[in-house]
Amino acid sequence: MTDIYSVSAPSNIAFLKYWGKKDPLLQWPANDSLSMTLNQLASRTTAYRHDTEDHRFQFQGEVLPRDHGSFHKVYKHLDYLSEICGFQEKLSLSSTNSFPTGAGIASSASGLAALTIAALACWTESGSFSELSEKGFSRESLAHFARMGSGSAGRSLFGGFVQWQAGTHADKQKIIGLYDANHWPLHDTVALFSHSEKSKSSTAAHADAWSSILFEPRVAGAPERMNAMLKAVHSQSIATLGPLLETEALEMHAVMMTTRPPQFYLTTEAVAFIAAFRRARQDGLFEAYFTIDAGPNVHIIHEASETSALTTWTAEHYPTLQLLQDRVGEGPRLERGLN
Ligand code: PMV
Repeated sequence: MTDIYSVSAPSNIAFLKYWGKKDPLLQWPANDSLSMTLNQLASRTTAYRHDTEDHRFQFQGEVLPRDHGSFHKVYKHLDYLSEICGFQEKLSLSSTNSFPTGAGIASSASGLAALTIAALACWTESGSFSELSEKGFSRESLAHFARMGSGSAGRSLFGGFVQWQAGTHADKQKIIGLYDANHWPLHDTVALFSHSEKSKSSTAAHADAWSSILFEPRVAGAPERMNAMLKAVHSQSIATLGPLLETEALEMHAVMMTTRPPQFYLTTEAVAFIAAFRRARQDGLFEAYFTIDAGPNVHIIHEASETSALTTWTAEHYPTLQLLQDRVGEGPRLERGLN
């Protein structure tokens, strides 16, 4: 029998988006970002030591080799962690997602966060975050390792509301848990317009951001938007946060659509939904606001009081639309068991 380490790491939804990098090798983002960690939408990854020549990675029950499409990122990240932290043992990892992969629900955020925690817990034989910390791996250091796998993954190391600060140098970045989940019980209802893989990975698309004429003004305006969002989150004001969320998401998509080559993550269905959703809000049916990541799925951010009106409206107007209900969550969990 060997020890097996199980991690459940949530996805997160960015309020102020990380889009574009100052330095791709050092994963230095062009601007600060702010997110809410989710609860149900998560990746679960187990790890145990495996006496073989290479790591073994299984996803949703299927063993995926090193050269397998978008999963080469997993092996690359394991190689990075092993080299930078000095661990040689090979691992057997198995991962599942509670939501469709590559559909704009930041599966790379939860996936790379879970992978980082599981690998380091296994290598250091730590069954909890406090044991990891005693062995030199604080939560913030884990967040920095995770962001090297996928930028947004760093924010999934903390629960509640999380800020990733770009800092003045790549090595001055900070990832901070600002408020825990109890601060403001916000909900995220995801309108699922696509289950399929993204047309272009966000890693490739980040690199194109600088070619948009809108990108530099966006980066210049980010600090002011961040301040306004921080105030809204601090004072738990959905009426202030909501319009900022929508402007921010549309602005990121405007950048994407004006890069060379242009990138369209939004679909006509998603755009029509957003227009109808805004009209329904103007008609006073609910108070809820949307945001969108690098995919066509629409994240509706709202307070619990709006859930019923929102689901009634979607059931009436979009009877076949699948909704994923989630809310702010407390961050990743780690356990040790026997294999
Ligand atoms: O972590 P990446 O490289 O998949 O980039 C994520 C980018 C967005 O999800 C669109 C925004 C964000 O801040 O999460």
